Amino acid sequence: MSVLIKNGRIITATDDYVADIFIEGETISAIGRNLNVQADEVIDASGKLVMPGGIDPHVHLDMPFMGTYSSDNYETGTRAALFGGTTTVIDFILQTQGKSLQSALQEWKGRSDNNAVGDYSFHMAVTDFNEETKKEIRHFIEVEGITSFKTFMAYKGALMIDDRQMVGLMQEVKKHGGLINVHATNGDMIDFLIAKHKSEGKTAPLYHYLSQPEVTEAEASSRFADMADYTGCPGYIVHLTCEGALNAVRFATRRNQHVFVETCIQYLVLDASLYEQNFEGAKWVMSPPLREKKDQETLWAGLNQGLVNVVATDHCPFMWEQKLMGKDDFSKIPNGHPAIENRMELLFSEGVNKGKITLNKYVEVASTNAAKIFGMFPKKGTIAIGSDADIILMNPNEKHTVSAKTHHMNVDYSGYEGWELTGKVKTVLLRGKVVIDNNECKVQKGYGQFVKRNKVDGKI
Ligand code: URP
Ligand code: ZN
Ligand code: ZN
Repeated sequence: MSVLIKNGRIITATDDYVADIFIEGETISAIGRNLNVQADEVIDASGKLVMPGGIDPHVHLDMPFMGTYSSDNYETGTRAALFGGTTTVIDFILQTQGKSLQSALQEWKGRSDNNAVGDYSFHMAVTDFNEETKKEIRHFIEVEGITSFKTFMAYKGALMIDDRQMVGLMQEVKKHGGLINVHATNGDMIDFLIAKHKSEGKTAPLYHYLSQPEVTEAEASSRFADMADYTGCPGYIVHLTCEGALNAVRFATRRNQHVFVETCIQYLVLDASLYEQNFEGAKWVMSPPLREKKDQETLWAGLNQGLVNVVATDHCPFMWEQKLMGKDDFSKIPNGHPAIENRMELLFSEGVNKGKITLNKYVEVASTNAAKIFGMFPKKGTIAIGSDADIILMNPNEKHTVSAKTHHMNVDYSGYEGWELTGKVKTVLLRGKVVIDNNECKVQKGYGQFVKRNKVDGKI
C-alpha cells in the first residue's frame, strides 16, 4: 500500500516548506516537490499543515488508582488520542510494592495487548526498589525496550519511594542506559497538610490545592535534580507546574546539568481559580494541582527558553461518579483529568494561534522532543525519509468547540467544555495508514503496536 500526500505545508521541529510525501508500507520513502510517483491513495493537503503525529509520553490508561480505575482503557484512550492527532502514547506500569517489575509488566500487557488502536509504549514505575528489583533493570532496558523508570516522591504508602531507593535506582538505571522520570512533590509535607486541613473540617476540593503549595514541588524538584546530578543519571520531571520548580531546574543548568522538564497542557491554559467553585472543582483535582497565572507565564516562557521540553497531558480520566468518591473528603477524589484528545488542538489554538510559541516549537514540544528523550527518534517524532509515516493534517483556520458530547474519551465531562478552538486535526496517518479521516476512525483495536525504545543518554 502506498500513499502520496500532495502540496502540504510540512512542519517539523526545524523545517517549514511545501512538498509532497510518498509513503510505501509503514514508512516515508520520498519527500520532494511535485513527486512523479504512482500511489494507491492520493491525499490533497493544499492549505493544510502536515506535521509529525503527536507523542504524549504521560498517560494513565486502565490504571488502578485511589480505589478505582482510570476510565479510558487502551482502546478508548488511544482512539481518542488519534482523533486529537496523537499517534503514540507512553503509559505507566505500576509495580505493586513487594512484587516484581516483571509481574507488573505482565499485568499491563494483559490490558494492552491487542487492545490499542494507536501506538504505545511503557514507562516502568518502580515503587519498591530493593536487591531483587535491581536485578530486573537491565532486562527491562535491553530486552523489553522499556528504558525509562518512573518514581514518585509523593503518594506515601502506595507509590512513594525514599531518597535512598531513588539514589540506588538512579545508579542502576544510569549503568544500563536508561532515564528516571519523577513525580516531584514532597509527599511528607503534602500528607501533613492534608491531615491538617481534614482535622480542621476543610473537605472541599479547594483544600486539595491548598495541601500542595508551590514549595512542595519546588523542594522536591531541587532534591531530585541534586540526586540526578550526583549519580549522573538522566532525569525527567513529569507534570511540572510552577515557577519555583522550574527555577530549581534553571539553577541546575548553572552546573551544566540538564534535567528534562515536561509540563501538561492544563497547567499552561487553566489556573487555580477553578477550585473556588464548590465540588465542581473536583473536575480539576489532579496532582500537582493547577497553579497561578504567573506560573502559566513561567511555563510558556520556559518552552521558549528550552527549559520545558515536552507538553504532555497526564491523561488520567475518571467519570463524575468516580470523582464523587471524594464528595465529603477531598483526599478521596481520584486525582486526574482527561486531555489525551485535546492536547494537540489546545496547544495549537492557545499557543501557536495566540503567538506564544512558533509552529516549529509546537512540533518540538508536542512530538519531537518526547521521541528524542525517550529513545524513539527518528522512527517517531519527525517527518523524514525512513521514519514511520505518523502524520497529521491540520486545518489551521477551522474553528470548533470542545464538548463531552462530541469527544471520544470515555469520560462524561470535559475540563474544557465550550472552549472555542481554532485549528482542527482533519486526517491522521499511523504507520502509513489513514486512521482518522473527517472525524471517523478507520481502524479497529489491535492496530496499535507496542514501541520498543532505545537506550538514552540524557541529550537531545
Ligand atoms: O493527578 C494525577 N496526576 N493523577 C495521575 C497520577 C500522577 O500523579 O501522575
Ligand atoms: Zn504524578
Ligand atoms: Zn501521571
